[in-house]
Amino acid sequence: MEYQVIIPAAGQGKRMGANRNKLLLEVDGRPIIVHTLKVFEQDENCRGILLAIHPDDHLVLLELFDQYNIRKVTAMVEGGKERQQSVYYALKQALPNGVVLVHDGARPFIQQNTINELVSVAKETGAAIAAVPVKDTIKTVKQGLVDKTIERSSLWSVQTPQAFRHSLLMEAYEQAESSAFLGTDDASLVEEMGKKIQVVEADYDNIKLTTKEDLIFAEAIIRKRKEQ
Ligand code: CTP
Ligand code: MG
Repeated sequence: MEYQVIIPAAGQGKRMGANRNKLLLEVDGRPIIVHTLKVFEQDENCRGILLAIHPDDHLVLLELFDQYNIRKVTAMVEGGKERQQSVYYALKQALPNGVVLVHDGARPFIQQNTINELVSVAKETGAAIAAVPVKDTIKTVKQGLVDKTIERSSLWSVQTPQAFRHSLLMEAYEQAESSAFLGTDDASLVEEMGKKIQVVEADYDNIKLTTKEDLIFAEAIIRKRKEQ
């Protein structure tokens, strides 16, 4: 089932502390963003990649597309201050039909079976997100004191991709803009409209590379996959 994917890649990677866009750091000898792009490049159902970038990275990215034979990037837009703006600018360049995925450039380990399932559920129902059950016990804390313990069985850690019918996602982003709503993920904008979002159980190794330790996890995930 065909889809387009928006990849926000315009962040500054502040928590990684590399003084540059973390997506250009290498794991297993390739920039993180190349790993992410390759997943979609190799998926025959992906009909186009819309990338939100920082203008400073533009030339480097064009060189990487050449070097790694990445041909499906149909639009490169300048990102905004917030991830939500970056996604919105890219969404405006998407073909106005079918299913659109939004996937963080910083999650290079997304697996094909999760993508397939998200696309198919979003096509059927309008909206689907990747998530995993929370492993830790989660408590709310106020002024250094435990407030309460939240029932773990209802807690899920939400990832990307998040998949939507184009029309629904566009409406959600337009509404968020007109009401100045800033969500923490794409689905939260759709939730604001009172729409149901399906949850697709994904993998624990679909991590977002955020801090330095995550680079060690990333190398380990790649090693494990090479052994399989
Ligand atoms: N992103 C974006 N535009 C922004 C902020 C983030 O396109 N204004 C992208 C990032 O490039 C990343 C994804 O959104 O692929 C998830 O964001 P995050 O992991 O928070 O990356 P950064 O914002 O770059 O990192 P930090 O928050 O540590 O600065
Ligand atoms: Mg960020």
